[in-house]
Amino acid sequence: MKYTNINFNNKTILITGGAGFIGSNLAFYFQNNYPDATIVVFDKFRNNETFSNGNLKSFGHYKNLLGFNGIIISGDITNTDDLKDLEISYKFDYIFHEAAISDTTVAEQDVMMSTNVNAYENLLKIAIKHNSNMIYASSAATYGDSNRFEVGYEQPNNAYGFSKVMMDNITTKYLKQNLNISIVGLKYFNVYGQKEFYKNSTASMVVQFGHQILKGLTPKLFEGSDKIVRDFIYIEDIIQANIKACSPKKSGIYNVGTSKARSFEDIVNILQKELNIDNGKEYIPNPFVGQYQFFTQANIDTTKEYLGYEPKYSLEDGIKEYIPNIIEIYKTEVKGK
Ligand SMILES: NC(=O)c1ccc[n+]([C@@H]2O[C@H](COP(=O)([O-])OP(=O)(O)OC[C@H]3O[C@@H](n4cnc5c(N)ncnc54)[C@H](O)[C@@H]3O)[C@@H](O)[C@H]2O)c1
Repeated sequence: MKYTNINFNNKTILITGGAGFIGSNLAFYFQNNYPDATIVVFDKFRNNETFSNGNLKSFGHYKNLLGFNGIIISGDITNTDDLKDLEISYKFDYIFHEAAISDTTVAEQDVMMSTNVNAYENLLKIAIKHNSNMIYASSAATYGDSNRFEVGYEQPNNAYGFSKVMMDNITTKYLKQNLNISIVGLKYFNVYGQKEFYKNSTASMVVQFGHQILKGLTPKLFEGSDKIVRDFIYIEDIIQANIKACSPKKSGIYNVGTSKARSFEDIVNILQKELNIDNGKEYIPNPFVGQYQFFTQANIDTTKEYLGYEPKYSLEDGIKEYIPNIIEIYKTEVKGK
């Protein structure tokens, strides 16, 4: 589905983090709708290096790009030589900046800041030189301990959330200059959908519960899960927001959610209904009390007004559309492994 009248054919589009969950979905959006666009995916891809929390340092995976026929560059956004090569080899019309340490539990603050904050500003400088509109991924994690989910009320409670606030601050600073480009920061809430599987344990609970249920296990929920509510947003609505952010009425930072908080219990109920499997539910103590977001719900008034964004997927609709892929990935990547 096309979300804009812009014709991206013959445009050159950079997608950093294009081998990851959201970036690879964007790459296919352009490939499928605009076959004459030049799509450049820049990503660090995975190796076996891990952070101190045991998780991979980067989640990019070639399997997210099977069938992609654009340009692939394996590089590091923190490496200024890699960025220089990008700058001199192309002239981008749009930059979608998705590359980041996306794992909210990473403790290495030095790498978090250089990857998420400093590299963003360097990419923004390229965008200004190339005259390319910049659309970058911020996060609902910027709200942290806040209970007001509106831009201006951020209260991050981990290094990841802090790094995304710093990206937003850089944006605000640049927007005070008279630039010829638009800059839009999108504060994604909890995203789920196709191509998230390779984020391993950091993938959404939708796919994790889905696979537990398919394995015949009883899904384990934290005690009080009916009251732990979040704004879960389906990947297709994230794509819509990114595309609409290419021609904003006003540059700025916007929430991207459904504006309807739903519980983890709801996720399990919907999955059990759609998969037609009921293994019951098990309740376990929540080890994260005190450092856990119990409620998130995007205020999307300005996103509607300035981007023309309108979420299309309820949690029921999103999971229903996602189910065939959850089953497929289960068969090819999980079962028997
Ligand atoms: N998925 C969500 O629920 C969610 C919510 C809020 C914000 N975000 C943000 O959206 C963006 C995309 O997230 P995602 O869910 O697709 O995560 P992801 O981890 O699948 O994608 C990030 C990609 O960036 C790449 N990358 C990491 N470090 C890099 C580096 N130094 N140089 C080049 N590439 C590098 C990774 O290999 C990966 O492919 C991120 O900025 C993330 O912080 C995601």
